[in-house]
Amino acid sequence: MKKVKLAELESFCIKALETAGVSPEHAAAVTDVLVTTDTFGVLTHGTKNLGQYIQKMHAGGLDAKAEPSIVAEGPGFAIINGNKAVGMVSAVKAMKLAIEKAKQTGIAYVGVCNSCHFGAAGYYANLAAREGLIGLSMSNADPVIAVPGGRKKAIGTNPFSFAAPLGDGKSVFLDVALSNVAALKVIMAQEKNQPIPDTWLVDEEGVPTTDAFKFPKNASLQPMGAHKGYGLAVLVELLASVMTGAGILSEVASWNLDLSSTNNAGHAFIAIDIAQMLPMEQFTARIGQMADELRNGPKAKGCERIFLPGEMEWDKREKALASGELELTDAMAASLTNLAEASGLELNLY
Ligand SMILES: NC(=O)c1ccc[n+]([C@@H]2O[C@H](COP(=O)([O-])OP(=O)(O)OC[C@H]3O[C@@H](n4cnc5c(N)ncnc54)[C@H](O)[C@@H]3O)[C@@H](O)[C@H]2O)c1
Repeated sequence: MKKVKLAELESFCIKALETAGVSPEHAAAVTDVLVTTDTFGVLTHGTKNLGQYIQKMHAGGLDAKAEPSIVAEGPGFAIINGNKAVGMVSAVKAMKLAIEKAKQTGIAYVGVCNSCHFGAAGYYANLAAREGLIGLSMSNADPVIAVPGGRKKAIGTNPFSFAAPLGDGKSVFLDVALSNVAALKVIMAQEKNQPIPDTWLVDEEGVPTTDAFKFPKNASLQPMGAHKGYGLAVLVELLASVMTGAGILSEVASWNLDLSSTNNAGHAFIAIDIAQMLPMEQFTARIGQMADELRNGPKAKGCERIFLPGEMEWDKREKALASGELELTDAMAASLTNLAEASGLELNLY
C-alpha cells in the first residue's frame, strides 16, 4: 500500500487543475473538496477521480474556465446555473450562498443545474456545520437503481448528506448514496467470484439476483431500504433536479463513461441557522445529550463501540491530519500516477 504526504497531494491537485486551465481560486476550492474527502476515508470519491474530471474538460464535457451564475434569487433561496463548471466549483458556491442567506433568514435553499458529479455530499453539509449551521446536501445522478416493481435502471444513487455541529469543531454527519450498496461493492464481489445477498441487485426481469456478474448490463442496483430509499431518492430528484432545471432521471448522462457529454446533474443545498432558533450553548448541550445517549447505549454482543454517524470519518481525518499523510488504495495510486504523467507533474508516492 502506497502513501502520499497530504501537503504534496494538495499542491499536486492544484497544479494539475491549473495546468488544465482552471483558475487558481477554483483549483483551490476543488482540491479542498477532494483532499478533505480523502482524509475522511471516502477514497472512492476524492482525488482518485481528479484525472477523470480533467479528461472530461479535455473532451468538452466540462468547461475548465466556466463561472457558475445565479439565475433566480430571493432572500432565502437561489438557483445557480453551473454553466458546465467542475461540479465542486458550483457546489461550494451554492452551499456558501445558502449559508450566507440562512444567516439572514434562518433557513435557505440553493439549487444548482447544469453541473456534474460533485464527489462526496458530506463535504458540503460540513461547510454549514463548520459555521454553526445544520447543512443538507444532495445531488441527482445518472440512473443505476431499479425502483420497486421496475426492471430497468430508473433513478440515480442520488447521494444525500446532513451535518450538524457538535460544538467541538466536529459534526454528526451522514453521507450516503441511496442505493442499498455502492456499485463498487458489486464489482468487488465479481473480482472475488463471490455470490452477493439478494438485496443488492435485481436482474433484467426485475427479480432479486445473487449473481454479481449480471451487473451492470443485465442488472440494476436496489434502492436503500426498498421503497424507503426509493422515496428519498425521489425527494433528492425533486429538490436537485425538478426544481433547478437540471436533467431529470434519464436526462443525466454518466459523468465518467461519457466524457464528452454535458452531465447536467443538479444539486440542492439547505442551511439552517441554529442560533436564530435557540441559543448555541443550548443546542450544543442538547445535541451532546443525544450523542451521549446513542453512544452509551447497551452494545450488541461482540460490539466494542457505538458510533455516531460521521464519527468514523472524523477519526480517520484526525489520524490523517496528525500524521500528515494518507494511505492510498491501489486504484487511487494508479489514478494519481496516470494524472501526474499526463500533466507532466511530479508526485512522490512511497
Ligand atoms: N456524487 C455522486 O453522484 C455520488 C453518488 C453516489 C455516492 N456518492 C458518495 O459516495 C460516498 C459513499 O456512499 P455510501 O452509500 O457507499 O456510504 P456508506 O454506506 O459507506 O455509509 C457512510 C455513512 O454511514 C455512516 N456509518 C457507517 N457505518 C456506521 C455505523 N456503524 N454507525 C454510524 N454511522 C455509520 C458513516 O458515518 C457515513 O456517514 C458518499 O460520500 C456519497 O456522497 C456520490
